[in-house]
Amino acid sequence: MHVLVTGGAGFIGSHTVVALLERGHDVTIVDDFENSSPVVIDRIEQITGIRPALAEIDLLDEDAFEVAFAAAAPDAVIHFAGLKAVGESSADPLRYYAHNLGSTFSLLKAMKRHGTQTLVFSSSATVYGDLQEPPYTEEGGRLDATNPYGMTKVMLERILSDIAAAEPGWHIALLRYFNPIGGHESGLIGEDPSGIPNNLAPYVLQVSIGRRPHVNIFGDDYPTADGTGERDYIHVVDLAQGHVAALERLAEVDGARAWNLGTGHGTSVKQLIAAFESAAGRTIPSVVVPRRDGDLPRSWADTTRAEAELGWKATRDIADMARDGWRWQQRNPNGFADDRTR
Ligand code: UD1
Repeated sequence: MHVLVTGGAGFIGSHTVVALLERGHDVTIVDDFENSSPVVIDRIEQITGIRPALAEIDLLDEDAFEVAFAAAAPDAVIHFAGLKAVGESSADPLRYYAHNLGSTFSLLKAMKRHGTQTLVFSSSATVYGDLQEPPYTEEGGRLDATNPYGMTKVMLERILSDIAAAEPGWHIALLRYFNPIGGHESGLIGEDPSGIPNNLAPYVLQVSIGRRPHVNIFGDDYPTADGTGERDYIHVVDLAQGHVAALERLAEVDGARAWNLGTGHGTSVKQLIAAFESAAGRTIPSVVVPRRDGDLPRSWADTTRAEAELGWKATRDIADMARDGWRWQQRNPNGFADDRTR
């Protein structure tokens, strides 16, 4: 298949492009590098020996996107592009709604014009809100979110489901990610957040190489085994392979359907820090601070549906995630900014 990947230079996007190329698919990346680096394209080529086509375009620029879409003539689309910082979304909701919804509308209009009806959409476990106790199942029905970023995922899932129900011929995967971490085993691509990381794993990695003094543990008084929050961390390469599995089975699925991509296991903040300490062979200092607003005590996936219908299961454990995340950070202490070839 020829697959157009929006946001293909991002953390999850880049690992998915590698997985697609390794399975023999052709790829066109659409990315405006607003929150990613062009160095990623070189690194993908280093890993796979193939340089994916690139359209450096803002999806909101409908005219430019139409030209790029027509030139690529893709069989399918994987849509990662979007804004994803929870705190920022609460501070500037209009920007988040306009950007995440507007760019998806631009994409959907181009897909309709060209008769491309196979789409894999980047959703999030955030759509479960606090409506279920873990493990979260896709059967739950109602979706909710506690912040505008999460609401863009809830709304887009609904919009995509409505379109698929109204028009025949669509095949849409709504992939609900749990907490993707780690990096490619080559150490060439990984997570490279700009500014202060919002998420735990990249923060821990920046402490481990001395870029920050200590990890702030957001609360140790949760009703969990060690009092810290528990999450379903999933290796980004497993997640990437989940996208390929969904894409390759989508022809058999009419309409829109949701799948959880997680491991089915919870790991606490303290356990995750300990795994990174083992991988890095050094102590990672931490300080307990108050809970972060909007955080849930526990979250993990019921993986039954993805296993049964996609024939996919995460195979990498927390030690693998810590090892590959550490390798990436150790070799690229300042992320892609260390690459002087550009
Ligand atoms: C967060 C978002 C979620 C988004 C996901 C991926 C919130 C409430 N949720 O998930 O919507 O889809 O990121 O971008 O922001 N923690 C610390 N110290 C830190 C950072 C985090 O103790 O410096 C703790 C958190 O309290 C939580 C766990 O680590 O228990 C994981 O946090 P994080 O990596 O931010 O992911 P989520 O909150 O699960």
